[in-house]
Amino acid sequence: MDDEQADCMDGLTVEGCTRCPALVDSRSRIVDGVGPADADVLFVGEAPGAQEDAEGEPFVGRSGSVLDEQLRTVGLERDAIRITNCVRCRPPENRDPSTEELANCRGYLEAEIERVDPDVIVTLGKVPGEHLLGRSVAVTKETGTVEEIRVGEAATPYRVLLCLHPAATLYDRSQESAFAETIREAAALAGVSPSDEGGQSRLGEY
Ligand code: URA
Repeated sequence: MDDEQADCMDGLTVEGCTRCPALVDSRSRIVDGVGPADADVLFVGEAPGAQEDAEGEPFVGRSGSVLDEQLRTVGLERDAIRITNCVRCRPPENRDPSTEELANCRGYLEAEIERVDPDVIVTLGKVPGEHLLGRSVAVTKETGTVEEIRVGEAATPYRVLLCLHPAATLYDRSQESAFAETIREAAALAGVSPSDEGGQSRLGEY
């Protein structure tokens, strides 16, 4: 058993990892993914921010509110999906994770993908898109496109749906419709039809 396997025995929960010294200093805790271990859709963000670090859960700050709102609109309830990050510890001053930090956490992400075995992986933003596809991504142009990747020993490839980061809609309102459309596509790929209860998107209110 290597160190990584010992730190993550169930494929989902990382314990006591000290691979990235700067992140060990900046984190309050390791922020594991949340949601059902057999979810059809796995959302992958970049790294925890301040709120996520404080609460120990991915996407619980403003970006999380934008995402939750759009999930509801398309009939994907937050507690039916799984959500995780490429890197599980908050980088100092919310900087992007370094290449080395992404690589250090890669095995945990791959273990989670294999354990959850989702129908579709949705990458939220440029960093997770590039990390999983292994190429540069122009996320504003490519949001809504699907590509297949191989992960670990899995017999079949996984579909990756590139998506804007929800925060992009906070900085630039013109991105709202593309973000909404991509989340709708995620629901369609997972076989969920838009719910009547979810109603109109209120994204414009954020
Ligand atoms: N942004 C991310 O990429 N991940 C989070 O968990 C929160 C914000």
